[in-house]
Amino acid sequence: MRPEFVSLAGGNPDTSLLPHDLIADLSAQLLRERGAEILQYGSGAGIAALPESIAALMAAQGATVTADNLLITTGSQMGLDLVTKLFCDPGDVVIGEGPTYVGAMGVFGSYEVDLRQVPTDDDGIDPEGVAELIDTVRAQRHPVKFVYVIPNYQNPTGVTLSEGRRRRLVQVCSARGITIVEDDPYAHVGFQASPMLPSLYSMNPAGVIHLGSFSKLFSPGLRVGWMAAPPAVRARLQIAGEAVSIHPTVLAQELAHAYVSRPEWWQNLTIIRRSYQTRCEALLTALAKHLPDGVTWTTPRGGFFTWLTVAGVSPETDILAAAIEHHLVIVPGNACYVRTPAACHIRLAYSNGTPDEFDEGTRRLASTLDSLR
Ligand SMILES: Cc1ncc(COP(=O)(O)O)c(C=O)c1O
Repeated sequence: MRPEFVSLAGGNPDTSLLPHDLIADLSAQLLRERGAEILQYGSGAGIAALPESIAALMAAQGATVTADNLLITTGSQMGLDLVTKLFCDPGDVVIGEGPTYVGAMGVFGSYEVDLRQVPTDDDGIDPEGVAELIDTVRAQRHPVKFVYVIPNYQNPTGVTLSEGRRRRLVQVCSARGITIVEDDPYAHVGFQASPMLPSLYSMNPAGVIHLGSFSKLFSPGLRVGWMAAPPAVRARLQIAGEAVSIHPTVLAQELAHAYVSRPEWWQNLTIIRRSYQTRCEALLTALAKHLPDGVTWTTPRGGFFTWLTVAGVSPETDILAAAIEHHLVIVPGNACYVRTPAACHIRLAYSNGTPDEFDEGTRRLASTLDSLR
């Protein structure tokens, strides 16, 4: 908030690019025509119309879903909470990427889950590492409850799980009877609209729980997401969800459905995706211009983030505190690991900044690193 700071930390979508007048008209029309119904309590499963819009989004990733598989949530963060609540007891093991989404670590922590992390590279998590870890944990007689992955434009690294690794990961987990939780909020914000890689869910709907979201492709403030799961699991998830919030907000769901049912939304998403691509290029150009030798970064094909690896700075360093000294805010890589990682890492977001902020922010980052070496 303070003007003397530059923040490359927050991964917020750019909602200024949405057609606000159209959205205002849709909201007014919904309330005028169906106000009594929309302002009333709704169903714990979500509104009846939304599964059709979600099925179209998931079909682009090769998956077939119906209302029997779908549960609407108050954002995919709620999906993460429900799946952990349903599957895990304190001390159970969940296997995830190293690094992973800080918000998922918060959920796992709150249910006292033992998160074990498998390293990622430019092609995502290594399925052979997952297989080895499942077998090791089981040999120690600990239950592994699920494998948690973010396959597209991962938070925090920006990398995408390759198609070969997707197939192998599904094979490794189904051979061992382990469910995969596929957290996929960035699927529709790739820089290229097509071809989209098949979702893990499309490869094995019986063994994968898919979490989707309207947060990045429409609005995070509306809080609408979904889960796709086998019908028996979906029913349990609904009961767990009803216990928390009875049902997701009806007006937000109706608005999400009304918006993505119109052709304009897809054109708008194309504009938004191009804007993220332009910003990503601007940030990577600034990194190349200002950062010293020994710093490397990922090259995202979509999403909001790039991930830096900094040689010559100890992974124990409080890199956020050092950056704040230089009036810069970043996400410290350590926050994305259960244990201190082997190297110093930083997450930078380009989804909501300007080229000038990227230039100034990376200049300050260079001074920060200088002061630590
Ligand atoms: C990987 C990942 N999962 C889930 C979420 C939460 O998304 P939602 O707004 O749908 O709750 C985020 C938000 O940043 C995310 O990056």
